[in-house]
Amino acid sequence: MQPRGDPDIQEHETCPEAAMTQTIEPGNPEAPTQPEDTGTGSRPAAAIPGIIPAALKRRVPKYSDLAPLMQFKKPEFSRAARLRQASTIWDLRDMAKRRTPQAPFDYTDGAAEAEITLRRARQAFLDIEFRPGILRDVSRVDLGTQILGKPSRLPVGIAPTGFTRMMQSEGEYAGSQAAAAAGIPYTLSTMGTASIEDVAAAAPDGRNWFQLYLWTDRDRSLELIERAARAGNDTLMVTVDTAVAGARLRDVRNGMTIPPALTLKTVLDASYRPAWWFNFLTHEPLTFASLSRYTGTVADLINSMFDPTLTFEDLDWLRDTWKGKLVVKGIQTVEDARKVVDHGADGVVLSNHGGRQLDRAPIPFHLLPEVSAALKADNSDAAIILDTGIMSGADIIAALALGADFTLIGRAYLYGLMAGGRAGVDRAIEILEKDMLRTMALLGVSRISELTPDHVRLLKK
Ligand SMILES: Cc1cc2nc3c(=O)[nH]c(=O)nc-3n(C[C@H](O)[C@H](O)[C@H](O)COP(=O)(O)O)c2cc1C
Repeated sequence: MQPRGDPDIQEHETCPEAAMTQTIEPGNPEAPTQPEDTGTGSRPAAAIPGIIPAALKRRVPKYSDLAPLMQFKKPEFSRAARLRQASTIWDLRDMAKRRTPQAPFDYTDGAAEAEITLRRARQAFLDIEFRPGILRDVSRVDLGTQILGKPSRLPVGIAPTGFTRMMQSEGEYAGSQAAAAAGIPYTLSTMGTASIEDVAAAAPDGRNWFQLYLWTDRDRSLELIERAARAGNDTLMVTVDTAVAGARLRDVRNGMTIPPALTLKTVLDASYRPAWWFNFLTHEPLTFASLSRYTGTVADLINSMFDPTLTFEDLDWLRDTWKGKLVVKGIQTVEDARKVVDHGADGVVLSNHGGRQLDRAPIPFHLLPEVSAALKADNSDAAIILDTGIMSGADIIAALALGADFTLIGRAYLYGLMAGGRAGVDRAIEILEKDMLRTMALLGVSRISELTPDHVRLLKK
């Protein structure tokens, strides 16, 4: 019941609209929604919790009150303005989906078979709890690190991705230039859609790595390796999780071909995504980092690239042949991590190819602590690089805390690329950088080297 005798309070009782104003903060469970009977008799309204003070009366707003609140801006329709709307990599994915025909979008976004691996990999990063330290000076957070003998401004680089100019025509040029501008490494895929030499020329100040699909035909492999060395690539990343192509069912359903064929379905799709088709048709046709032009299905092309006869002997040959840093990508067990390091690898990439090969494969983030412990026990200084499932800077920080030296992103940058070409890749990197800076500061950590497994607790299911 309301205390009697106070005119304001009586007004609330009779005027329902006024009574509504007593709710202090919607959604705040601690705020009383009904004025309580405080039993204070004629205490002034201002002193009674939940009662609006006498001085607060309704009135008609004046223009001078409204003017400072009015911040209408001229609407901007530029690419930059659109990209600024994206606050997360998931936002970039939404934009990418709207702007890219279904076949290339699904080729990027999809994974193998029932896509269980990809879902689990992303979930693994969510199933943790950070353990922050308080009262640390985090006024300056430095994300710089060393990877494979050289500095990187951020603890993340761009993973090799094939057919990149099919997702958006700036493709590899956008990726390598954005990486160079951000001071991070860029990896060109053997199945990239720009040549090794053109990428080197597009990002002359960048740190370029080359990803190799090794063939038992050594002359073919040697030719590529020599080109990569001549073009200034300091690291060769050999991918070993592709004895045969994974079953990418979305591609089968979409009838995905390289280059995309003009069928009734694609022409209809084009009417919704004119910018993509305009870009695609008005730029040079797709050429490959390592192949001459190709027309056919993705699965056939991939199968022609992958070699099911490879063994550790081929890795030994590669180690003898390549003079720069050598990392092996697609490590999925502790034993194999140890073994490739014994065979001379300078680093391992814990990866299941973004869930695009073996479905229900081990999750790199789960494997990480064991690999880190095993290589420490062997007194190895081989670099541990992790990819698959990274969608935020917090994911990267969690991986570093659990023992990764470095991380790679595939889809996270490709969503940016499809959302807005080079500027979209810049935006993706910027989003991840901001995430990482914020996460580090909130963890009470100002340098990457201060991150330890104590900063992360794996939640039990
Ligand atoms: C569209 C696409 C194409 C890819 N092409 C290659 C490739 O040519 N060579 C390779 O080693 N890995 C390739 N990958 C795997 C990536 O290098 C990386 O392992 C994976 O994308 C990491 O997972 P994430 O996309 O969740 O970041 C590709 C990945 C995607 C999404």
